[in-house]
Amino acid sequence: MSQSLSHQDLSHQDRFARLTELLAERQDLWRPLPFQHRRPPWGEAWPGLEAALLKLSDAATTRLQDAPFRESPLDEWLPVAELARLVELPELAGDVVELPSSWAAHVGGRKWSQIEAFLPRVGASPGERLVEWCAGKGHMARALSRRLDAEVTALEWQPALCREGQRLAERQGASVRMAEQDVLAPGAGRWLSSDTRVAALHACGDLHGRLIELSTEHGNAMTLAPCCYQRTAEAHYRPLSRQGRERLAASGLSLTREDLAMAVQETVTAPRHVRRQREQAGGWRLGFDLLQREVRGVDAYLPVPSLAYGRLPGSFEAFCRWAAERKGLVLPAGLDWPAFEAAGHRRRAEVTRLELVRHLFRRPLEVWLVLDRTLRLEEAGFSVELGTFCERELTPRNLLLRASPPSRPLD
Ligand SMILES: C[S@@+](CC[C@H](N)C(=O)[O-])C[C@H]1O[C@@H](n2cnc3c(N)ncnc32)[C@H](O)[C@@H]1O
Repeated sequence: MSQSLSHQDLSHQDRFARLTELLAERQDLWRPLPFQHRRPPWGEAWPGLEAALLKLSDAATTRLQDAPFRESPLDEWLPVAELARLVELPELAGDVVELPSSWAAHVGGRKWSQIEAFLPRVGASPGERLVEWCAGKGHMARALSRRLDAEVTALEWQPALCREGQRLAERQGASVRMAEQDVLAPGAGRWLSSDTRVAALHACGDLHGRLIELSTEHGNAMTLAPCCYQRTAEAHYRPLSRQGRERLAASGLSLTREDLAMAVQETVTAPRHVRRQREQAGGWRLGFDLLQREVRGVDAYLPVPSLAYGRLPGSFEAFCRWAAERKGLVLPAGLDWPAFEAAGHRRRAEVTRLELVRHLFRRPLEVWLVLDRTLRLEEAGFSVELGTFCERELTPRNLLLRASPPSRPLD
């Protein structure tokens, strides 16, 4: 594949084929989780790579976390420029308008900005019946209804969210009908028909998978921003498209739920204090890891349950005592807490650098997953546009798929 090809020249199939090859060929590099291993399992197979990562400055590490494809020292070992090109997608066209600020009442600031960016790209045509999929309180349904002066049906399975959504719609005079519906249940297809357009913002794994399957049966149009690919009943990823199944089988690539989680691991939007607490917790976890290996006399990683934000104990020692109790581990007296804590923070600095390899494959995996969805629809005769709907600072889950059924080709 020539280096001069731009993203416009690449078909969805070609992009998918090349991404499959690269993800399969380099799976020994991106799959291992560096915090689980004292030394990366790929160290010997990739001479020089570990050392190059470990000598990166803090500033270079932060820069590469944020922009993994720009001026990366990893290009000595990996096809950084090609990966960058394969994940480059156009911003989808949409007549961007600023919505009245009063419409944003009761919606979080970031969510409202996402709705403002998503809504003009829904691409609804006159006469279409509008449905919001997994709507929460129907914030987007209200904005869509007011913007298009149309009725919108919002599907959501939690009765409390439906009640609150209906109350907000009535109060704002928006023509929204909140409908209590488990979209995974039999019969969810009754809301879809060939004159329906579904809008789905951040519908998780199986929830958007179901939408795609039902849409191929009912022939509705859709505008979908998928997220949380790992929220799926299957422990091993089963591609939606025929090409996905064939290419996966031929390439020897197999993806677990844990692998899929990498596609959505990006903290670009986390506030500074949250990031600082994550760093603290990361250092403590790695300090505990060193300690438990010594106490148990077993040089192997021991998973410790996660803690909700704000629940982190007040000191490293308290954290280790909590973790030890959870794992049924008796800690001896006289442990050198400051030494283990300092070692944990040193290891966190190393792990952060080694994780830059995974960062490089995170967006390629996400684009690969969205392409699998795109190809599923194209194989069923849909016309599909794939691109972004906002900057990733607003939400890293900024990929959008706009699909029209065979009976209604795109203009
Ligand atoms: C990630 S939220 C997205 C909500 C909204 N679209 C947004 O962008 O804020 C997913 C929503 O799906 C709903 N949900 C989860 N499982 C569902 C199911 N089986 N059927 C219908 N809704 C479901 C959740 O209650 C939640 O409101």
